[in-house]
Amino acid sequence: MATENNFQAIIAHAKEYGFVFQSSEIYDGLSAVYDYGPWGSELKKNIRDFWWKSMTQMNENIVGIDAAIFMHPTTWKASGHVDNFSDPMIDNKDSKKRYRVDHLVEAFADILKGKGKADEADGLIASMEKFLAADDFVGLKKMIDENKISCSVSGTCNWTEIRQFNLMFKTEFGAVAADNSDDNMVYLRPETAQGIFVNFLNVQKTARMKVPFGIAQTGKAFRNEIVARQFIFRMREFEQMEMQFFVRPGTEGEWYKTWKEERLKWHLSLGLPAEKYRYHDHIKLAHYAKEACDIEFEFPIGFKEVEGIHSRSDFDLKQHQEYSKKKQQYFDADIDPATGKPYGNYIPYVIETSIGLDRMFLLILSNSYQEQTLTKEDGSTDIRTVLNIPAKLAPNKLAILPLMKKEGLTEIGKKLLDECKSSFKCFYEDKDAIGKRYRRQDAIGTPFCVTIDFQTQEDNTVTIRYRDSMTQERIPMSEVKNLVLNAIN
Ligand code: GAP
Repeated sequence: MATENNFQAIIAHAKEYGFVFQSSEIYDGLSAVYDYGPWGSELKKNIRDFWWKSMTQMNENIVGIDAAIFMHPTTWKASGHVDNFSDPMIDNKDSKKRYRVDHLVEAFADILKGKGKADEADGLIASMEKFLAADDFVGLKKMIDENKISCSVSGTCNWTEIRQFNLMFKTEFGAVAADNSDDNMVYLRPETAQGIFVNFLNVQKTARMKVPFGIAQTGKAFRNEIVARQFIFRMREFEQMEMQFFVRPGTEGEWYKTWKEERLKWHLSLGLPAEKYRYHDHIKLAHYAKEACDIEFEFPIGFKEVEGIHSRSDFDLKQHQEYSKKKQQYFDADIDPATGKPYGNYIPYVIETSIGLDRMFLLILSNSYQEQTLTKEDGSTDIRTVLNIPAKLAPNKLAILPLMKKEGLTEIGKKLLDECKSSFKCFYEDKDAIGKRYRRQDAIGTPFCVTIDFQTQEDNTVTIRYRDSMTQERIPMSEVKNLVLNAIN
């Protein structure tokens, strides 16, 4: 309950301080779709940039691409998404109306709540989620029958068995066909990875890459998620940061191990607590996968997946070769010591690292959110809400706060702003009591605040206040920029 309260407090904070808003809120919102506000979009961009830089700048053998969201529909046939990327649904035999099982059960739970049976409703939802997580459709159907959940149209409980429902969104391309055929139909991509696979040879040839090498991409993905209720944890429109690393067959085991370690190191390099991380090795593997694991983080809603590392064999490239009838081979001129001859032509194996940007955002937000009880000089207490976001990811790095809006202080503040703003994002404010201003900066995670006062006019020193310790010290104004740069690099 305490952690659930904490989660609700984080969601409320994210809205109140301009991090995340419900999409189309004035129309009562759109389920599992969110907009990022002024500080949220900065934080999201900083996470994306940090990932991009650590992939494409810190590794000479990884290059980036920016593929389109729309892809040829055959892509998704080849990748297996048309046939296998699905969630459960159920039909009423009398009305012929089709329901997503979660919608049906949720609607029934709402009716129970309306009758004052909130506990029963919550229990039902919890059971449904357990059945869904275990792919136990027989158990779920039994639950629907036992609770006499009926169709809103026919009023009967005459249901089919539960069947799978594809998670991909479809849309029309160009003029809509009069006969409503699927000829112009395209999908909104459910993962960014396929944009990398279909460009494998374009990138390899144009960037003159030699195996082993990687292709990185960040971008939107869309899934018509069946259980989408945990704020930005599971969304219908979200962003992924994926990297496919192409390796020589036979070396995939070592590379899988390397990337599994490297990706956890990336998380820990942000100063995030190691004890809140764990690996979850998959026992049940997808048919093409050789090995797979999740990096899990302890969110307020428990340990959950934030990133996946998958050894995907040559499945995707082979499938695209078969469906496109275009060879997806690479010629490896390196000498194989076993034969003394070049390794020659092969379809590379792939190690994938795939992290959700929104999920990483939630990780940072929930890990940094703190309500601290402070004791004042007179013995009374006060609550300080602070986000101790890693400095390099913070939406604003420095708040410049002239003590008052007068007598030359604003000019000094603006001068410092001009000096720093091309190097990092600053926030300037010269009204309200300074204590109030500090608290507002704490609430949006600004690591440094400097106050400009009358002494600044005399000796060019400012008071710098550190967000996490709340300590303050007097330093020359000329040192501020470097101090912040050191902290964020
Ligand atoms: N290309 C592999 C792939 O897409 P995945 O495990 O389905 O693998 C990778 O997704 C990551 O994308 C997840 O670890 C998660 O962080 C993020 N993700 C997946 N579905 C999501 C959703 N509905 N909302 C937010 N993030 C999601």
